[in-house]
Amino acid sequence: MNAFRKDFPVLSENKYAYLDSAATAQRPVQVLKAVEDFYRTANANPLRGLYELSIKATDAYEDARARVARFIDASSSEEVIFTKNTTESLNLVAYSYGRAFVKEGDEILIAVSEHHSNIIPWQTLAKEKNAKLVYLYPNEKGEYSLDEVKAKCNSRTRIFAMAQVSNVLGIPKPIKEYAKIAHSVGAVMVVDGAQSTPHMKVSVRDMDADFFAFSGHKLMAPMGIGVLYGKKELLEAMPPFLTGGEMIEYVTEQSATFAEVPHKFEAGTVNAAGAVGLAAAIDYLENVGFDFIEKTEEKLTAYLLDELKKVPHITVYGSDSYKEHVGIVTFNVDDCHPHDVASILDADKVCIRAGHHCAQPLMQFMKVNATNRASLYFYNTEEDVDRFLTSIKNVRKELGYGS
Ligand code: ALA
Repeated sequence: MNAFRKDFPVLSENKYAYLDSAATAQRPVQVLKAVEDFYRTANANPLRGLYELSIKATDAYEDARARVARFIDASSSEEVIFTKNTTESLNLVAYSYGRAFVKEGDEILIAVSEHHSNIIPWQTLAKEKNAKLVYLYPNEKGEYSLDEVKAKCNSRTRIFAMAQVSNVLGIPKPIKEYAKIAHSVGAVMVVDGAQSTPHMKVSVRDMDADFFAFSGHKLMAPMGIGVLYGKKELLEAMPPFLTGGEMIEYVTEQSATFAEVPHKFEAGTVNAAGAVGLAAAIDYLENVGFDFIEKTEEKLTAYLLDELKKVPHITVYGSDSYKEHVGIVTFNVDDCHPHDVASILDADKVCIRAGHHCAQPLMQFMKVNATNRASLYFYNTEEDVDRFLTSIKNVRKELGYGS
C-alpha cells in the first residue's frame, strides 16, 4: 500500500478508485489543517490592517508567495501573482499584456491541443485587435516538431502560448526549445503549466518562460488559488487587469496610479487561506518528492496502458510510450459514448472524466466527439487500476453488446 494514501481522507477507506486527478487532485490532511489553522489563528484581511492579526495574515500570505517562487524557481517573489486558477492567469496575460502589446496584423501562435483556457483568451484578443491566431498541428506521435514551430514563428509573432503537458494526451513538450524559437523572433513564451506542475520539477528560469500559469487545486491545494509567474520587467510594463481595492498607489476623482508588482495585479481581498493551503501543498509535494511521483506514475501508467490495450474494442490515444503520458490515459470504447462509459464505471465507484475535456479543437483534429480519460497521481495504486480494468471490461456487455 502506498504510504501517502492514508493522508487523503477521500481515498483512505478505498471507497473510490479515483482516476481523475488531471481534473483535480485530492487534498491531504496537512493542507486541510493549514487552511483551518489560518482561519483559526491568523484570520484578518491581509495587506490592509495595522494590527497584529492582520500583519500575521499578511505575513502568511507573503510567505506563501515566497514558497511558490522557490518552488517554480522564479528570481523573486515579485514575479508571483496569485490568481483564481490557470484560466484566470492566462486571461490576465491576454487582457493585460495582449491588449497593450498586440497590434493589428500581429500573430499569436498556439497549438491545436490546447485547453480552451489557452485558446479562447487568444481568440478574443485576436478578434479585438484584428490579429491572426495561428495553429500548430501535431505529427502522428502527438509532437510539435521544432521545424513546424520554426515555420510558424516569424517576425509578426508576438505571443507563443503552449501547454507544457496536454490535458488530453499527456505528452510533455520541449518548452525550453520552443522558448528559444519564440525569443529569436521577439515573441513572448506563455506556458500553461496546469498539467505539468503537479508531476514534474518546474524551473521557469531554466525553460525561460516569460509567463507561466498553474492551478493550486491540481497539486492538492484548495480550489480557487492559482498562480501567474511573469518576468518582472514584463509585469512592470503591463497595465492592470482587474482594478479596485489594494491594487492602487493613489486615487483621485478622475485618475489613479497603481501599486508595484505583484500587488498591481491582485485587486480586492485576496485568497490568503488558499495561498497558505498552496504553500502547504507544495511542502507536501516536495516531501513526497518528484522522483517518487515520476516513478510511481510511470509504473502505474505502464501497467494501465499495457492492460487496457489487451481489452478488445479499445482505442488508446497519444504516445505508445508510457513515459509520454504524465499519468494521463485517454481512450474510447467502440460503439460506446464516453458518458455511458463513465456512468457505468461510476456504478463501480471508479471515477474518470468523459467528454471533450475542454479541448474541442483537438477533438475535431482527432475526428472524435469525445473521449474517456483516466488520470493518475502518486497516491494511486495498482488496486485502483485493477478496479478500473475490471469495470471497463464490462462496459460493452452492460450496453448490450455481445463482447
Ligand atoms: N482542466 C481540467 C481537466 O482537464 C479540468 O480535466
